[in-house]
Amino acid sequence: MFPTHRARRLRRNESIRDLVRETRLHAEDLVYPLFVQETSGEPEPIKAMPGQSRHTVDSLLAECEQAVEAGVRAVLLFGIPAQKDDVGSQAYAETGIVQRAVRALKERGFPLLICTDVCLCEYTSHGHCGIIHEGDVDNDPTLELLARTALSHAQAGADLVAPSDMMDGRIKAVRRMLDESGFQRVAVMSYAAKYASAYYGPFREAADSAPRFGDRRSYQMDPANAREALREVRADVEEGADIVMVKPALAYLDIIHAVRREVDVPLAAYNVSGEYAMVEFAARAGVIDRERVIAETLLSIKRAGAEIILTYWAREVAGWLKEK
Ligand code: PBG
Ligand code: ZN
Repeated sequence: MFPTHRARRLRRNESIRDLVRETRLHAEDLVYPLFVQETSGEPEPIKAMPGQSRHTVDSLLAECEQAVEAGVRAVLLFGIPAQKDDVGSQAYAETGIVQRAVRALKERGFPLLICTDVCLCEYTSHGHCGIIHEGDVDNDPTLELLARTALSHAQAGADLVAPSDMMDGRIKAVRRMLDESGFQRVAVMSYAAKYASAYYGPFREAADSAPRFGDRRSYQMDPANAREALREVRADVEEGADIVMVKPALAYLDIIHAVRREVDVPLAAYNVSGEYAMVEFAARAGVIDRERVIAETLLSIKRAGAEIILTYWAREVAGWLKEK
């Protein structure tokens, strides 16, 4: 007898493939990370991330206008200060670059969710995500500075703050500071399972945030560990995270899948700079079909279980989805 089930029946043409598709990308899923720099009058292209720039406040506004036009609904801001010091003062300065950028965006009234990355590594002279004591990042004194950073972003008008430092207890410290200061409405997205990954290489060039000594393995997670990611995520949910994130995405699709089953808060995944750069440079070498690889990449992250994707392709992909 011939087979009863013929899988190919559901693949015959576009209409039936569209009908049975299990996973779809939407512009609403995407968060667009953007860099804003304090110095220089012109936006500066980032060599390691073709197509991305370090923006001035003005060019950031122009970029956001185009992103909104394309259908992007959320941005995540990273700041690059003019001055760095050993305690990262510009991270929590009222007139810091991110604080100024948030105010400028809010003034324009863009229909965008304004998210900010909360960390010290772009602001410290040593490039670590906290303050240093005897050659290592000192956890508890760092919490106070992270909470002050989050508060200063909220005061500037941020809708959501995203601590990316991986200190223990930071979600609680940030949540408490926001609540005590009347910012109950500001959401916290925790970089909950953030691995010590070589895929952040291009970002560190972009943000000039590579550690000047050592590495981040005493605070970011060991790529070998999966169970530990579940512990990290549960801890952050208990401390008050509204959304949790897995980072990077592609080498950690198993973690995304496992976290999705573990907690019931919204789950984000960060398609990081190295994942972006690999595709862009392979496309420039003419060895892949760039647009299809981008679409397949983002779909895989969603299929693994992330509802929210942070990607440098957000503006472009939102544009494609709008055209369709
Ligand atoms: C700051 C931070 C990093 C990224 C996001 N926030 C770098 C790092 O931890 O070294 C990486 C983003 C990317 O690679 O696209 N802690
Ligand atoms: Zn950091």
